[in-house]
Amino acid sequence: MTRYARITGTGSTLPPQRLTNADMVAMLAPRGVDTSDEWIVERTGIRARHFVAEGVYASDLAVEASQRAMTAAGVEPSEIDLIIVATSTPDMVFPSTAAILQHKLGIAGCPVFDVQAVCSGFIYALTVADSLIRSGTANKALVVGSEIFSRLLDFNDRTTCVLFGDGAGAVVLESSDVPGILATDIHADGKHTGILCVPGHVSGGQILGDPLLKMDGQAVFKLAVGVLEDTARATLAKAGKTTQDIDWLIPHQANIRIMHSTARKLKLPLDKVVVTVDQHGNTSAASIPLALDHAVRLGRVKKGDTVMLEGVGGGFTWGSVLLDF
Ligand code: UT7
Repeated sequence: MTRYARITGTGSTLPPQRLTNADMVAMLAPRGVDTSDEWIVERTGIRARHFVAEGVYASDLAVEASQRAMTAAGVEPSEIDLIIVATSTPDMVFPSTAAILQHKLGIAGCPVFDVQAVCSGFIYALTVADSLIRSGTANKALVVGSEIFSRLLDFNDRTTCVLFGDGAGAVVLESSDVPGILATDIHADGKHTGILCVPGHVSGGQILGDPLLKMDGQAVFKLAVGVLEDTARATLAKAGKTTQDIDWLIPHQANIRIMHSTARKLKLPLDKVVVTVDQHGNTSAASIPLALDHAVRLGRVKKGDTVMLEGVGGGFTWGSVLLDF
């Protein structure tokens, strides 16, 4: 019998502090940084984002999202035999945020590690978990995207600081006789490192280089719209499906214009696209599981629906996962 991996529960969390575009305008004005609700909404679709309080870490958000996903799946922490956390904002340089999450969940023994593929991180993590489940290495995996991008933002740079937010999303992925994940497709091209990066690093007890986010938005935009169409078509081809089979497109939530352009290229009506960027901003590796969980809890994504998840981001990385929910 073929062994598949299937999502059996989703969960997510957002920190309580919500900042609207008007809040951002007021926060940035004393710095002499000029922006407006009109510009942000028109160019990105973002209306609000959430920022964590001091002392809250990616593992804390991951714990909440994971507990909700496990409750939805009816799975106890003790049953989890693999944890993968996708994050670019880990609690520490090492150990992994997955190790810290494991301990906070009160379990031990199972393999745990982080995946660092920036905004494609959840797609990468789901792809790895799918392989480990199909190979028989794991049976019940927690796959989490958790990010605190607010700590990487340069609040003197209006071209980036209004775009990002904090949050976490998680899924329980279990072995199953019926599919689940139908096909996956992941890629990277490291020559584009410079267009989206946080160039600083720790050396000899100091931070060397700039530890704040840098982005050439237009370069990222152009690459993103191309690869998101390509990877969706590649995953569909691997699964022997067509765009007509897609019930829901859940792309990385970075910019509504990129999402609409992807939907147009795939000839998908916009009402099949799950959009949370307006309320969450860009939460990097957390954006896709956050959007999935919101759509599930609103009763939009239902059992049996065919869902295309797509990520793109720093690295440059991109990829997609086609699944039956
Ligand atoms: O998560 C990984 C994936 N990331 C992405 O997918 C992001 C991809 N890129 C984008 O989403 C868009 O390129 C941005 C939203 C970052 C920028 O939008 P854009 O339409 O490409 O704007 P732009 O960079 O061409 O800037 C247009 C103008 C500039 O002014 P001038 O030079 O025309 O006078 C900017 O200075 O908009 C100005 N501008 C702003 N104005 C008000 C840039 N940021 C702001 C701002 N408020 N926050």
